[in-house]
Amino acid sequence: MKIYFCSSEAFPFSKTGGLADVSAALPKTLVRHGHEVKIFIPLYKDNVLLVDTYHHLGNLSFEIDNKTYEVSYYETRYDDVTYVFIRHDDFFERDLYYGYGDDDLRFAFFNYAILEFINFSKENVDIIHINDWQTSLIPFLLDVHYKKKNSLYEPIKTLLTIHNLEKQGSFPLSSEKLLGHKNFTYVHQDRVNFLKTGIMRANAINTVSESYRNEILTQFYGFNLQGPLKARQYQLFGILNGFDESLHNPATSPYLKQTYDEHTFEIGKKYNKVDLLKTLGLDPDPKKPMIAFINRLARQKGIDLLMQDLSHYLSSEQFTLIILGKGDAMYDSYFNDLMKKYPSLVYYQNSFDLALSHQAYAASDLFLLPSLFEPCGLNHMIAMKFGTLPIVRETGGLKDTVTPYNKFTGVGVGFSFKNNNYDEMHQTISQAIDLFNNHPEAFNDMIHQAMHVHHSMDKMAKQYENLYQKLSNNEI
Ligand code: GLC
Repeated sequence: MKIYFCSSEAFPFSKTGGLADVSAALPKTLVRHGHEVKIFIPLYKDNVLLVDTYHHLGNLSFEIDNKTYEVSYYETRYDDVTYVFIRHDDFFERDLYYGYGDDDLRFAFFNYAILEFINFSKENVDIIHINDWQTSLIPFLLDVHYKKKNSLYEPIKTLLTIHNLEKQGSFPLSSEKLLGHKNFTYVHQDRVNFLKTGIMRANAINTVSESYRNEILTQFYGFNLQGPLKARQYQLFGILNGFDESLHNPATSPYLKQTYDEHTFEIGKKYNKVDLLKTLGLDPDPKKPMIAFINRLARQKGIDLLMQDLSHYLSSEQFTLIILGKGDAMYDSYFNDLMKKYPSLVYYQNSFDLALSHQAYAASDLFLLPSLFEPCGLNHMIAMKFGTLPIVRETGGLKDTVTPYNKFTGVGVGFSFKNNNYDEMHQTISQAIDLFNNHPEAFNDMIHQAMHVHHSMDKMAKQYENLYQKLSNNEI
């Protein structure tokens, strides 16, 4: 099949979170399975990677709200996949961040530019796979403008994947002029809502785990979109994310001083831990548990709960803590302060440095992700692959992937608690630390189980292919 995969970010060109990882890894796997895939992303200021290889395909102009805009298309191959960069410097020659005053126009432009590309390339596209609000106008624009203009557009089916329901691309009603056609599907609570438009208009919708698919139909998790989602619940699916096991693998990672697998993790993890503690200038005692938090710094990730609890453990020197991630300024300054207060126990870096993240996964014993909500979560899966046991809240993808430790049977790949509640989280962290300190055999047995779990891209891609096929056959 010919698939256009549209996203606001794709690793390693641009990344603010897990969307970028899936946007690179899923197309790569689909290509391996024999599909023709093009990834469409904006060309941002920070994107300096491989620029010499970009091939300028051409420019064209189109109108939005009676104004003419020009787009330049650039193409490159990376990891066997074709990337098409949408270039418009006024809109994208900026830091990668959503929340600019003109995001409605920037991303409306991005959506039109992708649709215009079909006429420009004259390709017969089977599926346009859109992701999150930034590409959610495509099904609407396809229906109301493009299908009427040109028969190339007629057979195209659209799939919307929701990775983030909290961010919806919600703008004042005056933004409706960007859509060029009056219709109620884009209106939500007296605003123009890009994500809701996608939910109402895409041929099918999915989110990135089965549990989250069910949660978002409820008021608590629905972020006010539970109504539209319920209206589409028979075309709403849950497909669990996988991750690129060839990229994130402790047996092959080029960034580790000592690689290891499920047979050699005891030596391997210890070696990496001693090394990293030394490099980062932390308390060098490898007997002390080391905990990692590697994620977007966002409220979603349960950082507010952690803020109530971490000092308790750190003041009694119970573990060392490494935090890697970018995001909200409030959390950034909290982690900076924590590092200043406990310099021998806490290391924080505001980045998504792949090398350091592998070293941290390998060195750590436990991985924290007490999310308020979690569509899937990728990093705790990567942590498991590195033999680092996750401590999570039972929500969304975390619930679907972390079998909690059962002290009677010894079965389990992590530790979990049910409610978004300080006491429950505290007890769970303490249970994990106790197991590490006092029952190393049981702990190592869990590591063994965790390293055996596979969340491969193949498994994930097959489910998407199945959905594409059903869409093409008009079975959805
Ligand atoms: C978002 C979600 C996360 C998911 C990722 C990729 O970042 O918050 O749960 O794993 O997208 O789908």
